[in-house]
Amino acid sequence: MTPITNDVFLKTLKKESTPYTFPVWMMRQAGRYLPEYRKTRKHAGSFLDLCKNADFATEVTLQPLDRYPLLDAAILFSDILTVPDAMGLGLHFVDGEGPKFHYPLIDEQAIQKLDVPNVEEDLGYVFNAVKSIKTALNGRVPLIGFAGSPWTLATYMVEGQGGTGFLNIKKMLYSRPDLIQHILKVTTESVSIYLAKQIEAGADAVMIFDSWGGALSHHEYESHSLNYMKVIISNLNLMGFEDTPKIIFTKGGGQWLDLQSQSGADALGIDWQTDLGNARKVVNDKIALQGNLDPAILLSEPKAIRSAVRNVLDSYGHGESHIFNLGHGITQFTPPENVECMLDEVRSYSKKYHKA
Ligand code: CP3
Repeated sequence: MTPITNDVFLKTLKKESTPYTFPVWMMRQAGRYLPEYRKTRKHAGSFLDLCKNADFATEVTLQPLDRYPLLDAAILFSDILTVPDAMGLGLHFVDGEGPKFHYPLIDEQAIQKLDVPNVEEDLGYVFNAVKSIKTALNGRVPLIGFAGSPWTLATYMVEGQGGTGFLNIKKMLYSRPDLIQHILKVTTESVSIYLAKQIEAGADAVMIFDSWGGALSHHEYESHSLNYMKVIISNLNLMGFEDTPKIIFTKGGGQWLDLQSQSGADALGIDWQTDLGNARKVVNDKIALQGNLDPAILLSEPKAIRSAVRNVLDSYGHGESHIFNLGHGITQFTPPENVECMLDEVRSYSKKYHKA
């Protein structure tokens, strides 16, 4: 396999010494805020058409890297909802409304029937995209593979869409825990295989997006979200992928960082509501942290952006185990030049925190 030229991101995940701090990439770095993405998307058809075509997926994965040479990692262009789609739930996207399922898990019968898909076959297009992206990257930067956490996938599968306030899934959680456990178990097994195959296809690190873990109560977070992510991590280790760095990110999960740091993950994603310096104290430098600029700052202007970047870097302070990122995905309304400003500030201001 082609060696990776810029491995600062991977070294940071492994807590190894790096030539500079801090490596940087952005959640959702390929997407609608980029005019070149909108152009490809128009040409390709729907968002899912983009994901399912390896050439298009490769093109859009590389767009942010071509525009912003300071980015230190690529992330596979796909979606977390490919897995429930492969389970037969019928994923589609309604413009302006986000993802929806034709066949959500609304009754017991549908849930009992839910089974691990034929990952190799039904998600083969994702592994083809990974291979194609790796070839196109030619070792330029590492490629991050990803999946949704079982809990986050379950919220979409039961609600049938986003933005419902989680009332259906929470009602089920409290009244029929057996049904939720079945969904989480099947999803955990599916995601484990899915991530293993992404690694086999060439992903250099993997990230689990637990976008809705923060919707759980204190009592339920560990049992319904974290524990299933832990199982995925240990499954990957058992399958021989212990050397592939694993990142977990619970949006709204800042109060459970201590538990997360014991999950076996190599790094924790930190959202923009959490104090990064405090997060560092809680994990006691045992693992790397990734985050946590409020993506909304990128809607403002250069002076405010530079100052917010400095706040993030200052709150982490000296050390080599921080990956700079946003505290959640970049919004579609971000002016692309503001990203350049953010990246420039990260690279120039972080010099003061580097040892070498
Ligand atoms: O980071 C990257 O550049 C890789 C691509 C990526 C996408 N989705 C592309 C996408 C990743 C990592 C995801 C993950 C994802 N998808 C999550 C977890 C991350 C998070 O933000 O919490 C979630 C919850 C989803 C589900 C999903 N997919 C939603 C809610 C939406 C609608 C979002 C919106 O703003 O309308 C999507 C669609 C989606 N996924 C788009 C992209 C680029 C927009 C597609 C388009 O209309 O062209």
